[in-house]
Amino acid sequence: MNESRAVNVLVASRVGAATVAADVLAVPVMAGAPADPVLLELDPAAAAFVASGEHGGRLHEVLLLPAAAGLATPRILLYGLGAAADLDGSRLRFAHQEMVGVARKFGHGRIAVLRAGALRPADLGPVIEGCVAGSWDRRARSTGGHPAPLTELILVGFGDGPAGAVDVFRRLGEATARAREWQNMPANELGPNRLEAIARELAGRLELDCETLGAEALAAGGYNLLAAVGAASDDEPRLIRLTYRGGATDGPSLALVGKGITFDSGGLSLKSADGMVKMRGDMGGAAAVLAAIEVVAESRLAINVMAVIAAAENLPGRGAQRPGDVWTSASGKTVEVLNTDAEGRLVLADAITYALRSGATHIVDLATLTGDARAALGHAASAAVSNDDTLWEQVAAASEAAGDRVWRLPIYPDFRALLQSQSADLKNSDYGEAGVITAAMFIGEFVEGRPWVHLDIAGSHWNENQAHRDIPRGPLGAGTRLCYRLAELMAAQSTKR
Ligand code: BES
Ligand code: MN
Ligand code: ZN
Repeated sequence: MNESRAVNVLVASRVGAATVAADVLAVPVMAGAPADPVLLELDPAAAAFVASGEHGGRLHEVLLLPAAAGLATPRILLYGLGAAADLDGSRLRFAHQEMVGVARKFGHGRIAVLRAGALRPADLGPVIEGCVAGSWDRRARSTGGHPAPLTELILVGFGDGPAGAVDVFRRLGEATARAREWQNMPANELGPNRLEAIARELAGRLELDCETLGAEALAAGGYNLLAAVGAASDDEPRLIRLTYRGGATDGPSLALVGKGITFDSGGLSLKSADGMVKMRGDMGGAAAVLAAIEVVAESRLAINVMAVIAAAENLPGRGAQRPGDVWTSASGKTVEVLNTDAEGRLVLADAITYALRSGATHIVDLATLTGDARAALGHAASAAVSNDDTLWEQVAAASEAAGDRVWRLPIYPDFRALLQSQSADLKNSDYGEAGVITAAMFIGEFVEGRPWVHLDIAGSHWNENQAHRDIPRGPLGAGTRLCYRLAELMAAQSTKR
């Protein structure tokens, strides 16, 4: 249900702005800037609202006006982008996501966007991605009225962009919307079983190789950490691997490893009632890698990419692991589970071993891993930890291209002592400090020296802070576009050599 249907994306020149047929012409306004000359010429009355300060160009500020006689669109929607100096790729996309939400609530499903204010032709991508990400309907399960579906998006005055780029931007916008939808699915709809079904559907449609390991295969392969986390659920845990082969057989193989905890109750180390409310989103990493590999495959990127998902439901109950249990991981390292709520690092450890056994040469994991990531960076960025400066630089460049913020934290060897257990090689919690880094370093123990970047999206995947108005509320699909842009960068590099 509610998968965003394809949006028809078109480009038009500014010269023809008056003849563009849509329900509404959306015109960005910058804070502290005079009315845009193009708007002035097109619709002096609308421009007058800017000149008078009745529309001040602040973020979230919208004004719907009847359009001047002679314009093909009956309405003008002035929307604010804030101060030009504050406008990075993330804010730009979020602002357009919100603008589309507003227009749809007014009943407008065919939206034209006029390039105005500080927007450059190069903002074509961010505008398309943001707008299309706004095609998602969060309240699809409510039985009341729904906003108009976004059916058509017309970019006026941005130029055509590089060949084929518009399609990629649209797909990335749709992928973001899809990741948001999967994140938002209630845990009674989306368990490990459904994650597998989603992966199989993608595999069938895109001719990807799909392998899944269920409870039996997990036991046979020694994936005891993942098995233990999912042991108390009726919906058995599984490892899911989708493989896209676009590169040379002996070329690099990028593994995008997603945490797919479809519900995190904490297990026997039970969370509080409040702490559990949003834990249907604990598969945000899985959502991002699934959504990203779809675009990788559709775009036929010249690189080998696998999406690996550690899917499980972390519940207390019969068969649940206990605090104090010691397991041998698939890698052979032993782990003492001091807190069953630190389950993400357990399942990721086994998932990374699976990725390595499947031939991964580069590893990027995405996980809603620690409350500390949210404490450190809020909802504004993902926290990154890496053992490899080269791969990190590519991730940083991908982040920039994607408008998907990341901020790197350091690994200090001093912290290694904090991970040591009295009864096993590693313990899974109780490190005492530096929660984002130490959790990442636990995962890093399993990458066998391969280049690796860890993205803790616990803050960035979902904004539940209502005071945080500049970031849309709810699931955000963090990491989706970044993964695609990373694969694209790696493809460009490996074909160059
Ligand atoms: N899934 C949570 C992390 C999380 C917190 C995600 C808030 C999204 C929003 C993770 O499994 C968890 O419970 N982490 C614990 C680890 C602790 C027990 C060492 C945490 O951060 O409190
Ligand atoms: Mn947990
Ligand atoms: Zn979790």
